[in-house]
Amino acid sequence: MENNTYDFGLVGLGVMGRNFILNVADNDYKAFGYDLDPEKVSALIKEGGDKGRVNASGDISSFVDALSLPRKIMLLVPAGKIVDAVIESLLPYLSPDDIIIDGGNSFFTDTDRREEYLKNKGIHFFGAGVSGGAKGARKGPSIMPGGSQEAYAQVQPIFEAVAAKFKGEPCVAYLGPKSAGNYVKMVHNGIEYGLMQLITEAYDLLKKGATVSNNELHEIFTKWNNGRLQSFLIEITAEIFKKEDNLGEGHLVDKILDKAKQKGTGKWTSQNAMDLGIPVPTIDMAVSMRELSALKEDRIKANTMFSKPESILKNKKELEEKTEAALFFAFIITYTQGLHQLADASKEYDYNLKLNTIAKIWRAGCIIRAGLLEDISEAFDVDMELQNLLLSPVFKEKITSSLPAAREIVAYAANQGIPMPGLFSALSYFDAYTSGRLPLNLLQAQRDHFGSHTYERTDREGIFHTDWS
Ligand code: 6PG
Repeated sequence: MENNTYDFGLVGLGVMGRNFILNVADNDYKAFGYDLDPEKVSALIKEGGDKGRVNASGDISSFVDALSLPRKIMLLVPAGKIVDAVIESLLPYLSPDDIIIDGGNSFFTDTDRREEYLKNKGIHFFGAGVSGGAKGARKGPSIMPGGSQEAYAQVQPIFEAVAAKFKGEPCVAYLGPKSAGNYVKMVHNGIEYGLMQLITEAYDLLKKGATVSNNELHEIFTKWNNGRLQSFLIEITAEIFKKEDNLGEGHLVDKILDKAKQKGTGKWTSQNAMDLGIPVPTIDMAVSMRELSALKEDRIKANTMFSKPESILKNKKELEEKTEAALFFAFIITYTQGLHQLADASKEYDYNLKLNTIAKIWRAGCIIRAGLLEDISEAFDVDMELQNLLLSPVFKEKITSSLPAAREIVAYAANQGIPMPGLFSALSYFDAYTSGRLPLNLLQAQRDHFGSHTYERTDREGIFHTDWS
């Protein structure tokens, strides 16, 4: 092995890291991997070594020495303290102007802190969200880089080669300074949580409302994926419904425990939206439902205490059509909320995000890729300053045509006791966002009544307080 000959270094040869580095090598770059686990090192050499473009080591100085200058080292390790530890272990071996890229789901303020810390040591650091799971990493993920544009320019050709392509365009673009890349990936995941929750609700509704079987669900989701709901998540859901259980009878989906886990990016999206003062209730609900799902024992007990309303079954065909429309409506609202958060964060954190570019790099490779993103990028192409998709003429017809079904499904689910908090929240968000006057005048009066918090008036300027009693 000759020193300084490898174009790209990757730390962390887990599933994502191994697939990403093989993708880099497929694109004719020489890539070198590093992991403390000798099994992962030899697995990579075995899988990619015959190409002559992939090598790996468990020795950090051999790893760093193998890379050409300025070194481009990507970290695909779990977010948190491990990222700091890896940075510390690399530092003694690096040269000025080397570049470290964090490809994990790091919290955005950690990225800002690390960039600042490494700048003082002459090392470039930036975060680049990578979406698409193992398959995406191998065949083409969507990549969301931020940070120093100068440092990104060094990596740009590699990222553009490995990223997913949408009609020939790479699904990667420089998004903005500092932690813009990690921030956008965080919100991507918030939207991911929202869409996933909505899909589970549609599944529940079809089963409870029209006794739709798994085989039928497979057919329905396959059909939906060929229409306006076309998306990666609908596509994999269709696949899930046909998977047989290899440990027993029937379909695997029925045997999976209904307690959802999370690594926290959806929760961060919600928390930060609260900090910004931007409503993202469908994402909030998706987080809450994962939490509620975890309360399995409580749910079983409560289920015996309260009976559900008598079931009134719906016509299968009709319910399928209405659910499709309601889901389409709620998908639009979920993207709307996430993108509204991005529009606001862009100002708050000086990211200078281009929402049309973000929508474009989400069209392929990532988990939330969907046909809808074409329309979303068009809406932001038409109006770069657009804050909320609901204000875009591009979405008016799509919303008005799917809205009646959303209302009908919400009413039916409420009467049947079927929990659909994602859809309910999407509809209420829409109804509130499109209300010129909300009843929050009363809330202001209450605040002033018990706490002299003051209020403004509709008919004159100024701040008022009333002695209510
Ligand atoms: C992606 C995903 C990925 C995320 C998983 C798990 O874009 O490829 O968002 O980054 O880690 O989806 O997330 P949870 O464990 O929080 O569901």
